[in-house]
Amino acid sequence: LHVVHIAAEMAPVAKVGGLGDVVTGLSKALQKRGHLVEIIIPKYDCMQYDRILDLRALDAVVESYFDGRLYKNKVWVGTIDGLPVYFIEPLHPDKFFWRGQFYGEHDDFKRFSFFSRAALELLLQSGKKPDIIHCHDWQTAFVAPLYWDLYAPKGLNSARICFTCHNFEYQGTAPASELASCGLDVQELNRPDRMQDNSAHDRINPVKGAVVFSNIVTTVSPTYAQEVRTAEGGKGLHSTLNLHSKKFVGILNGIDTDEWNPATDSFLEVQYSSNDLQGKAANKRAIRKQLGLSSANALKPMVGCITRLVPQKGVHLIRHALYRTLELGGQFLLLGSSPVPHIQREFEGIANQFQNHDDIRLILKYDESLSHHIFAASDMLIIPSIFEPCGLTQMIAMRYGSIPIARKTGGLNDSVFDVDDETIPFQFQNGYTFSNADEQGVNTALERAFSHYKNDPQSWQQLVHRVMSIELGWAPSASQYEELYLKSVARARAARQ
Ligand code: ADP
Ligand code: GLC
Repeated sequence: LHVVHIAAEMAPVAKVGGLGDVVTGLSKALQKRGHLVEIIIPKYDCMQYDRILDLRALDAVVESYFDGRLYKNKVWVGTIDGLPVYFIEPLHPDKFFWRGQFYGEHDDFKRFSFFSRAALELLLQSGKKPDIIHCHDWQTAFVAPLYWDLYAPKGLNSARICFTCHNFEYQGTAPASELASCGLDVQELNRPDRMQDNSAHDRINPVKGAVVFSNIVTTVSPTYAQEVRTAEGGKGLHSTLNLHSKKFVGILNGIDTDEWNPATDSFLEVQYSSNDLQGKAANKRAIRKQLGLSSANALKPMVGCITRLVPQKGVHLIRHALYRTLELGGQFLLLGSSPVPHIQREFEGIANQFQNHDDIRLILKYDESLSHHIFAASDMLIIPSIFEPCGLTQMIAMRYGSIPIARKTGGLNDSVFDVDDETIPFQFQNGYTFSNADEQGVNTALERAFSHYKNDPQSWQQLVHRVMSIELGWAPSASQYEELYLKSVARARAARQ
């Protein structure tokens, strides 16, 4: 198959959260299975350019329509992790991707609807005939209606459209009139069975549009796929998802086990594997030294937390967990940053309060290298999410021998299985879980983990060893995507005959 991903993020060059990891990880796994996979992302000024190989501009510019006229786009091509990537640089006076950040601009709707159309235009003008166009999240959700309304009729008609929603919290709704800029017909689409938002009739909803117009709709875990079909979990889209349930599935993400491999990780002080946990201990010593934490007691459990600090992640429970960890005699490392000013300020306050404390550090920024160090150094990783479509940090933690302590929701429910739950076969038990999104819930799991760690070090070591050997790569999920792609392509061929 020829698969083209159109996305707003791609790890490691343009990553805000898990979306970037998934685009790269899934693409690599599909490529390994013999498919031709290409990716189209915006050419942001703030990308990590040193991770792109052979970046060069194509001679031909791509012209795309917006706001009643044609704009030129410079197209760049390069290689990321062995994957061919196209970068679109709109030559538009608003310099859409020259803002020093990926998201959070007042004109995000405009920036990404422009990009979605330019990406399709690139496919059309370069004569590509993909079998699957796979778009992700609201930023590229426009691709689905644009494809069927404008591009399939123009001849880019080989493809089936797959849409993956990584988080239904973000739907990108906007006043209906704004849809006209990218050439879509507002009258036609601002209807309850199309793109009209389910709660505001003068607004259109790109995620709803992609659910309606795509051939395949996925989200990133089976439990979350169930949750979003309920009124509490669907963020207003449950009825739409139920209506389109036949084409909607939840596929659990994997992680890129080349990128996340403690045995080869060049960010680490000392590489290690499940057969040599001395190396993990050396990373714990190193980070204590680096961050000025006490190293008086080598066995003090270290709890890590690596996250965007947004309400979804249970910020009040993270705050509680850090105090409770100190009370229980552990050490705590938080690496996180927040796009929400009052949350960022609150955590800055806590960071200042503990500035010279022996057992805790809050590092309030995005730092890829430090994230690898913390996964390696920590004994446990806490993820008390209120909701979690999939979550990757629990899986990365496992790979690095850090035991996840997670709330049973969404993808956490599909990947973290409690050590004390006798209904779960021993070989699948891999962490500590709790159900209630409150302080008591956190306490019950954290205290059980501490007690295990302190009272039975030998069994803890065995748990670490076992958890590090769990298969977390993309292969099983990629084969599920592949099956969906193939079925959809076959259905289209049958319909054409
Ligand atoms: P989400 O996509 O909702 O943020 P995920 O768990 O799916 O959550 O993915 C988060 C990804 O971003 C992981 O790879 C994690 O290591 C990384 N990450 C989150 N916060 C930071 C940070 N402050 N610094 C470095 N990496 C981070
Ligand atoms: C979103 C979700 C997260 C998921 C990631 C990748 O950011 O919040 O749970 O793991 O996408 O699919």
